[in-house]
Amino acid sequence: MGKQRVLSGIQPTGDYHLGNYLGAIRNWVEGQNEYENYLFVADLHAITVPHEPKQLASDTYTLVALYLACGLDLTHSTIFVQSHVSAHSELTWLLNCITPLNWLQDMIQFKEKAVKQGENVSVGLLDYPVLMTSDILLYQADKVPVGEDQKQHLELTRDIAARFNHLFAKDQPVLKLPDPLIRKEGARVMSLADGTRKMSKSDPSELSRINLLDTPEQIQYKIKRCKTDPIRGLTFDDPERPECNNLLTLYTLLSGKTKEEVAVECQDMGWGQFKPLLTETTINALKPIQEKYQAITDDKTYIESVLRDGREKAQAIANQTLSQVKAALGYLAPV
Ligand code: TRP
Repeated sequence: MGKQRVLSGIQPTGDYHLGNYLGAIRNWVEGQNEYENYLFVADLHAITVPHEPKQLASDTYTLVALYLACGLDLTHSTIFVQSHVSAHSELTWLLNCITPLNWLQDMIQFKEKAVKQGENVSVGLLDYPVLMTSDILLYQADKVPVGEDQKQHLELTRDIAARFNHLFAKDQPVLKLPDPLIRKEGARVMSLADGTRKMSKSDPSELSRINLLDTPEQIQYKIKRCKTDPIRGLTFDDPERPECNNLLTLYTLLSGKTKEEVAVECQDMGWGQFKPLLTETTINALKPIQEKYQAITDDKTYIESVLRDGREKAQAIANQTLSQVKAALGYLAPV
């Protein structure tokens, strides 16, 4: 039996931070040789909210370079750009026509984002989960690594796949229902300014996040300013101390130590002692990634060849699924 297929993506929207790395890319890297991975830059998703055309291409390029710099290995992983494989857009249209409107109106993320945007909500924002469904189903993915916030979208993917198979492919299902890939240690990286909120690039405060390409000085400054509490002795999992839990979790993930080791090491520390430790650990953890990133971005032909291979491999699989879907729907095949 072949390896199971994993599929995931991140939107190219500017700065990439520790939440993207510890919550997603690093997990892809750690599990990568157990699976056949399809990892892409979700640039079609990036325009579901107002975007800056001048930035889109360079943000996409940066994210590809970061995927590679973080250690994705091309023998296990295919890296590509979503908009380079037109089957994503095409399957989205086809699936739109079998997706009940109220399934999309009920999505939590849509409701939250729509409220933030007021009058300017696009049809694309509503349709975002169908595009994500197409991403996943085109590759017949077995597993999709998802965080808490994307779980509902994966449920929807399964519902749409089941509905398609039921309506149009009863005898022989065309679309595979994916399962979530849940990691043992769910790393939820929270904001440095508020330990109850996710670290996010949409937070207006730069001080709320550490970006993967931050300089040592920026990292030091941000950790110095981050929110803490007046209690001495640091502990995990105290609901009264979300910042403390988050900073210890960051230290654990970046140092490679176990939670138990960190709990003992930090139990008597004050912030004055812990912050320099976290600063140094963060700088050291990011240094190899930053160095590799520099080397990769200096080599444009390399990135281009990665993306050309990625596109070809992705297209071969995606187009096959798309043809099966169109045949099931009854389309006249092109000659
Ligand atoms: N919606 C995901 C996010 O914002 C990104 C994404 C797009 C994705 N398509 C996907 C993730 C398919 C997993 C599978 O995090």
